[in-house]
Amino acid sequence: MRLPQHGVPRDELFATIRERKSADADWEHKRTFSLIYPATAEVDEVLHEANNLYLYENALNPIRFPSLASMETEVVSMTAGMLNGPEGSGGTMTSGGTESIIMATKVARERAAEERGVTGGHVLVPRSAHPAFAKAAHYLGLGIRYIPLGDDFRADAAAAAGLVADDTVMMVGSAPGYPHGVIDPIADLAEIAAARGIAFHTDSCVGGFLLPFLEHRGVEVAPFDFRVPGVTSMSADVHKYGYCTKGASVVLHRDREMLRHQVFLYSDWPGGLYGSPAIAGARPAAPICAAWTVMNFLGEDGYVELAGRAYDTARAIIDHVEAHPDLHVWGEPAATVFAFGSESVDVMAVNDVLDDRGWNFDRQLDPAALHAMISPGHSEILDDLLADLDWAVANHGESRGVEARYS
Ligand SMILES: Cc1ncc(COP(=O)(O)O)c(C=O)c1O
Repeated sequence: MRLPQHGVPRDELFATIRERKSADADWEHKRTFSLIYPATAEVDEVLHEANNLYLYENALNPIRFPSLASMETEVVSMTAGMLNGPEGSGGTMTSGGTESIIMATKVARERAAEERGVTGGHVLVPRSAHPAFAKAAHYLGLGIRYIPLGDDFRADAAAAAGLVADDTVMMVGSAPGYPHGVIDPIADLAEIAAARGIAFHTDSCVGGFLLPFLEHRGVEVAPFDFRVPGVTSMSADVHKYGYCTKGASVVLHRDREMLRHQVFLYSDWPGGLYGSPAIAGARPAAPICAAWTVMNFLGEDGYVELAGRAYDTARAIIDHVEAHPDLHVWGEPAATVFAFGSESVDVMAVNDVLDDRGWNFDRQLDPAALHAMISPGHSEILDDLLADLDWAVANHGESRGVEARYS
């Protein structure tokens, strides 16, 4: 396509956009189970207003835009409070879970070099860890080694103890992991890391804005945050269960002094000192304002209520699946993320039928499964979903061979 010679009238443009958008996954009717985290109509309105206020500002320069600096500081501090960050902890916002993970890995790499003389080295992550760790290792010139999973789909801590080495730069556990929604044995893994002076990252990109509020509701949650002594860094995504629009995550360090390994400072050019906390240079301002706004708008009560609604909906689906003679859930999901499979029917063929009925479940391999991340908004479609799921199991044909893909 070439740039049009003459500008296109805006009505025509927006008609084209709407037409193209009609082919996208139908998340607005709550028929999509990953990528989007529908909360409430009120949250939606608040987010529109917050985003609109900061479409043009640039968070690269906190001195020019002190409002952004203060909002970012407060988002980081509220998140650290939720995750029991001790006195002296600190962090920054980033564009998302992946960027938070890359920055935590970078800090671990510089620490390993400074404190233990490690050059090169590798990260040691559960088999179920998000691909962001492989990406981080790739970008940062590190290797990656995998901790096998136990039968419960959690990282096998005994195996990790045998795999950790002098050039392990960082160990990782997920709370919960994306594929099966289970929480790795963070306390055991972090203890192994701490005994050798190795950084340990809890990936709570999914759980950071969910698990603290489920705990408030009395749900039993395995230790995962800074209350575990060996945890040195964490990631928590406001744009997941914080219900913010995309582009908002928080990376936290137990010791805020570690930020010196994260921030890039440079002055060897005519423009003077350039300082940047993460990968992006120019940083969108809208996600910072949106994160600050939604966190203050909901407050602890609002998050507890929404986490409860998502959890109850997820439990209703999990219980239905477990009671179904042909289906079962893999492992014991800790919160609202789970994968379900079957020994008697081909779940890929079942999903073909669900696809045709307008649902959007992701497909997974080893073991074959359909994957769901449940949000508060999914409470609205619970009955329709369960009815269609039962129908699909009873009426599916041969699998069309649709590939499992996450993105
Ligand atoms: C457990 C976990 N960690 C990290 C990420 C990466 O987050 P993002 O897609 O925001 O980069 C995800 C994304 O779903 C995730 O589920």
